[in-house]
This record gives sequence, C-alpha cells and structure tokens, in this order.
Amino acid sequence: MPFDNLRDKVSSILANENESTAQRMIEVCELLQTSIDYYDWVGFYFANDIEKTLHLKAFAGEPTNHTVIPFGKGICGQVAVSNENFVVDDVKAQNNYIACSLDVKSEIVIPLFKDGKNIGQIDIDSHTKDPFSEEDERFLEWVNQLVSDIL
Ligand code: SME
Repeated sequence: MPFDNLRDKVSSILANENESTAQRMIEVCELLQTSIDYYDWVGFYFANDIEKTLHLKAFAGEPTNHTVIPFGKGICGQVAVSNENFVVDDVKAQNNYIACSLDVKSEIVIPLFKDGKNIGQIDIDSHTKDPFSEEDERFLEWVNQLVSDIL
C-alpha cells in the first residue's frame, strides 16, 4: 500500500498557504486519483444544511453530472445522515445508489467532521470490485482530518 508515502505529500499540499483551500483540495484529489491504481474518481462533497444537499467542491477523474446530491440519496446522501463510513464492495448490490459511470464497480465514502459535525465527505469510485480495506478507511479518515484543519 502506498499510503505511508502519500501522507507526506498530502500534508505538504494542504499546508501550502499560497494556494486557496479549494485548489489544495483539488490537488489532494489529483494526487490520490493518480497514485492509487484502484482510485478512479476522487471527490469532496460539502453539506448545505439549510437545503439538505451535498455539493461537489473538488474532484479528480471524469466529470460527473452529480454535483448536487440530496441528503439520503445514494451512498453519499446516506453518509450525510448516518455520519458513518460506507464501504460498497459491489455497487450492483445497492438499491440506494446513484450511478456516475457504468465502469464503477465499488465505492467508499468517509464523512468529514469539523468540530464534531459532519460537514462533508470524501468519495472514491473504483472500477475494481471489492478493492477497499480498513487501511483505506484509516487513511481517508486521516486525509479528512487534515482537510478539516484548514477549513
Ligand atoms: N455514487 C454516488 C454518487 C456520486 S458519484 O460516485 C461521483 C452515490 O451513490 O452517492
């Protein structure tokens, strides 16, 4: 797993105060998407608690039509209300799933907390079936904590 090598790179991207926070998040998405072979799409969604919707703020991979997702809809929308990691080994087995691409076989969504509040999430789509382990969960929780610290 390349996670240990990536931690230093993620840290330095997020510490770069010469870039906007939005640009730093894009660079983290690009780093993860290009470094981990089964990360085919990487994005950060953030919640609008008034409208009860998630909004795509940064991503790497193919553009998606799903830039706004209502709370409760799809894997992302479910994580907005559950506050828990959601690892989907096989998207075909999910009833409440929003397909971004027919190539996607699996997905992981990890909530992002600020001061204990679920304010968004990192979402990874994979073209590989069942690729995610607890190492991915721990790594992505760590990434989210670092992003939260600069918000
Ligand atoms: N598949 C997600 C939608 C977002 S795309 O993966 C970029 C879902 O079911 O919430």
